[in-house]
Amino acid sequence: MRTSVVVLAAGLGTRMRSKRAKVLHRAGGLALVEHVIDAASAIAATTDTVCVTGHQAEDVEKLLAPRGIRFARQEKQLGTGHALASAGSRIEYKDGLLMVLYGDTPLLTASTLLRLRDVQAQSQAAATLITTTIDDPTGYGRVVLDSSSAVTEIVEHKDATPAKREIKVINSGIYCFKADLLWKYLPEVKPNNASGEFYLTDMAVILRNHGHRVEAMHVEDPRELLGINTKIELAEADRLLRQRKNEALMLSGVTIERPETVTIDAYVNVGGDTTIEPFVRLLGSTQVGEDCRVGAGAIIESSRLADRVQVAPYTLIADSVVEHEAQIGPFSRLRMQAYVGADARIGNFVELKKTKLGAGAKSQHLAYLGDSQIGARSNIGAGTITCNYDGAKKHETKIGEGTFIGSNSTLVAPVEIGDDAYIGAGSVITDAVPGDTLALGRERQINKPGWVSARRKKLSS
Ligand code: UD1
Ligand code: CA
Repeated sequence: MRTSVVVLAAGLGTRMRSKRAKVLHRAGGLALVEHVIDAASAIAATTDTVCVTGHQAEDVEKLLAPRGIRFARQEKQLGTGHALASAGSRIEYKDGLLMVLYGDTPLLTASTLLRLRDVQAQSQAAATLITTTIDDPTGYGRVVLDSSSAVTEIVEHKDATPAKREIKVINSGIYCFKADLLWKYLPEVKPNNASGEFYLTDMAVILRNHGHRVEAMHVEDPRELLGINTKIELAEADRLLRQRKNEALMLSGVTIERPETVTIDAYVNVGGDTTIEPFVRLLGSTQVGEDCRVGAGAIIESSRLADRVQVAPYTLIADSVVEHEAQIGPFSRLRMQAYVGADARIGNFVELKKTKLGAGAKSQHLAYLGDSQIGARSNIGAGTITCNYDGAKKHETKIGEGTFIGSNSTLVAPVEIGDDAYIGAGSVITDAVPGDTLALGRERQINKPGWVSARRKKLSS
């Protein structure tokens, strides 16, 4: 059955005590609303998915626009019922099913939504809503059921009598309606409650008064339905999402040591038989190949590591590529499109920025290599610096294949060093060095035998 989805995401989220709209806060490496939209993609076409925006609407829409969904603006946040009504004109298909989700429930899974759709599609009810039981239901709407387990009403915490506050069955905020009945009766929702808001939850009573049945679909694990209202709940959602991601990776064959310390974002992928040591962070769109090792405390963001790469502890890699069998770290830094070829080595306190290091090349200690191309098998000595910045502009350094750059060399860019060239240690290189050439860019050493004792004698006389 054709299903449309409306995700409500217009609220500020006062209880977050933040200037940012609640649905933009991040957990598990994505904004809260991104998780909800991703789950919704299992049940509805993007063109049948509408996100209602209000607070920081432009930011929310910019974030979600690449997903191809539609948007409706709710200029004033007059409540969840009003928010859904704002989406009406953006919904193309007014029959079939209409699912309503709240943008602040990031743990919701696609499989639960598929189940809800199937339950509603096979039922005579006008709507089915997801309920769960929680020990401390403070803040949630309570669901009142009759003897046949149909929903008679949903009472918000603020409006509930002490007796109704005792109810532990709560409204998750996830509903599947017969679309025609929803659009027909939604205008009957009125702001007659403690907050003066249009409560979508009033639809339960309205549908019932018109002789329709509203069903509850109970979900056992309340964690999946956690609605984020405070920073404490945000941290809890983040913890649960990280745990879920780590478990999925472990089931697919990744070894994670002390997983409770490891942070892996939603869209990261890791190949089988890779080992992730404690306190690693794999962020953004990072892809790690098979049989790799990522050392303790490494932080890898939006980068690609091929198979059998070794990353030693405390290494930072951002927006970069590392080819197979390369070894990086400990304490290395790769950033801004650094590229490390197969079998290459980068050691401690080496920084690569916008630099391409050819296959089998090495820079093992204490170097800054920026805006450079370094050929295969070249050996960059300890302390080598590419002086890529003249105070106004950045310049490139080109180093050929099989070169030997002596320790503490200073390569003043723009400069080019040919294949197999050899640079003497401590050189300052300002001019091009042709291939197969030894370059020495330093003063020749002078030795003065007997100078020390002669001076001592002179001083004491
Ligand atoms: C809501 C439900 C409550 C349920 C709980 C589950 C209502 C009246 N109450 O309460 O029964 O137990 O969720 O988490 O629906 N929003 C808008 N426009 C508005 C108001 C809200 O888009 O005018 C959006 C918010 O951005 C948010 C969602 O709707 O994503 C839910 O709003 P929120 O204020 O968090 O509702 P709760 O008080 O948690
Ligand atoms: Ca909420």
